[in-house]
Amino acid sequence: MLRKKQLISINFRFINVYFMSRTTAMGKCYPTVSEDYKIAVEKCKKKLRGLIAEKNCAPIMLRLAWHSAGTFDVKSKTGGPFGTMRHKAELAHGANNGLDIAVRLLEPIKEKFPILSYADFYQLAGVVAVEVTGGPEVPFHPGREDKSEPPVEGRLPDATKGSDHLRDVFVKQMGLTDKDIVALSGGHTLGRCHKERSGFEGPWTINPLIFDNSYFKELLSGEKEGLLQLPSDKALLSDPEFRPLVDKYAVDEDAFFADYAEAHLKLSELGFADA
Ligand code: HEM
Repeated sequence: MLRKKQLISINFRFINVYFMSRTTAMGKCYPTVSEDYKIAVEKCKKKLRGLIAEKNCAPIMLRLAWHSAGTFDVKSKTGGPFGTMRHKAELAHGANNGLDIAVRLLEPIKEKFPILSYADFYQLAGVVAVEVTGGPEVPFHPGREDKSEPPVEGRLPDATKGSDHLRDVFVKQMGLTDKDIVALSGGHTLGRCHKERSGFEGPWTINPLIFDNSYFKELLSGEKEGLLQLPSDKALLSDPEFRPLVDKYAVDEDAFFADYAEAHLKLSELGFADA
């Protein structure tokens, strides 16, 4: 029997996404994409694995995905992982210095998959970056729609500030939790700061291309020559809610991976497929 929901279709520029009210355990209603779209996601994943391995660019891909999603504002339902980082206006935000490199590296792959939205594509790059560096598998649900309006500037966290500011951004603005703040901060297991991009210099760990729990171990072991701790990283040590999670993740990598995967999934789906 033909159901009414099967008749509701939305035509995007390149995609046909059919909304079929598929509610999952997380209470989300994911759009169901066409078979061609699913095939493109799988092929694109392989191309992304190749690019990231060849260029050692997992860290900047994760930063691109996070900065794309982290602008979400839960009250106004603006910002978020909707492909707006492709616009020069958003790349010009101070917090995004250097992300034009990631966008440029990704463009030849995007051109091979015109069916995919930029919104899905950038989030897929973040998921693949974590996977290929040895991190947890973060589930990926396709169907995000590209938006044309970049968010206002100033929604991403300021590295010179402490716990109150982190909660203002992650909890009040994005709608995430204290646990998500600590788990996601573990993303700094990858990559480094570049003086010309953020004003800070250096990696957080001795293996910045390996996704593991060493960020938390280094944080607890104090400052070392050659490694960096931002004021916003150190805030995790002094806050009574954050600190027990830092202690736990430093000794239990499985616990970190499980909480990180959950938090990354939530981040990548802010404002997407609300129940
Ligand atoms: C908690 C608040 C956060 C602050 C204040 C912050 C701040 C920064 C800063 C200042 C940089 C250096 C950028 C550069 O100079 O190239 C950076 C890099 C990076 N951040 Fe964060 N970040 C935060 C959260 C996150 C989250 C949630 C993730 C991912 C889950 C993440 C992933 C990364 C990665 C992978 C890099 C390295 C990029 C590269 O090597 O090119 N950060 N972050």
